[in-house]
Amino acid sequence: MQKEITGLTTVHQFILDKQKDFPYATGELSRLLRDIILSARIINREVNKAGLVDILGDHGSTNVQGEEVKKLDMRANDEFINTLRRGHECAAVISEEDEDINYLNETGHYIVAMDPLDGSSNIDVNVSIGTIFSIYRRISEVGTPITVEDCLQPGINQVAAGYILYGSSTMLVYTTGCGVHAFTLDLSIGEFCLSNQGITTPKNGKIYSVNEGNCNKFPEGVKNYIKYCQEENKEENRPYSSRYIGSFVADFHRNLMKGGIYIYPPTAKDLNGKLRLIYECNPMAFLVEQAGGRATDGTRRIMEIVPTSLHQRVPVFIGSENMVIKAEEFVKAEVEA
Ligand code: AHG
Ligand code: MN
Ligand code: MN
Repeated sequence: MQKEITGLTTVHQFILDKQKDFPYATGELSRLLRDIILSARIINREVNKAGLVDILGDHGSTNVQGEEVKKLDMRANDEFINTLRRGHECAAVISEEDEDINYLNETGHYIVAMDPLDGSSNIDVNVSIGTIFSIYRRISEVGTPITVEDCLQPGINQVAAGYILYGSSTMLVYTTGCGVHAFTLDLSIGEFCLSNQGITTPKNGKIYSVNEGNCNKFPEGVKNYIKYCQEENKEENRPYSSRYIGSFVADFHRNLMKGGIYIYPPTAKDLNGKLRLIYECNPMAFLVEQAGGRATDGTRRIMEIVPTSLHQRVPVFIGSENMVIKAEEFVKAEVEA
């Protein structure tokens, strides 16, 4: 159950209060979060006026995955990197929009991985989009150059992760490994204010989220799980509802709050699916586990996968624990058949 909130708590107040629970905390992580939140507020401003100024449409370049880049993706990327560079706590940034590591401050303790704008195909049509971030402590010694090993850490090493959802309201949802907390941006005061503390996701949900247009290309186990979701079974509350926005942040957030499963499975063409391990799947896996949910690639826990490259993709089954376990059973049954 979520705790009742009285009065107004800004995210910065909340972070400071939490920091006091850790007497040896130096405040660096809090400052890093502050910088990410500042960037998010600026990006929110840009997203909100996207219909007014000439920042819509294709940027005319392609990102390292060969996908079309919208102008706002680049702006968000620049905003985060510039703010983190000025903040001194961040040693390097891994971003969806940059093929290589962005080296910032050798004296920084942290590595930030991010998808600066997720769901960018929805920008032009005024549908929810998001920012995803993930924070690691560097392994190499502070003051020395960042290494590839620093940037290829498994998700279990994350010290914080979260997202900003630019939706009908703008929300920040984050974890530092002590539960999942959500803050809503109050534009009148320009602050993210605590709206849900200690979010738990239902063990069973009634929503499945997958791009069913690709169903013919899915493995048999996933096709069979989708059929299972659609079957009539009163005792088990099936059929489930199908909901798919096409913005991972928005689909994830809805399922986190209501209960559900999000799947981006492998296809014959893309054996590793579409979503990226380091800056899309790991942060969401950390959040969902902190909320009592589950995230796997069909067989392996997402957060235990050791990345071998910055932009590695991974199939993902994420959401309510019992729904993900059930989907895994279908995947396993196919392998054993
Ligand atoms: P991005 O805009 O950062 O490239 O991410 C898009 C992702 C994700 O947000 C979404 O869930 C997924 O792509 C949708 O893909 P399909 O259109 O293939 O369903
Ligand atoms: Mn994305
Ligand atoms: Mn993106």
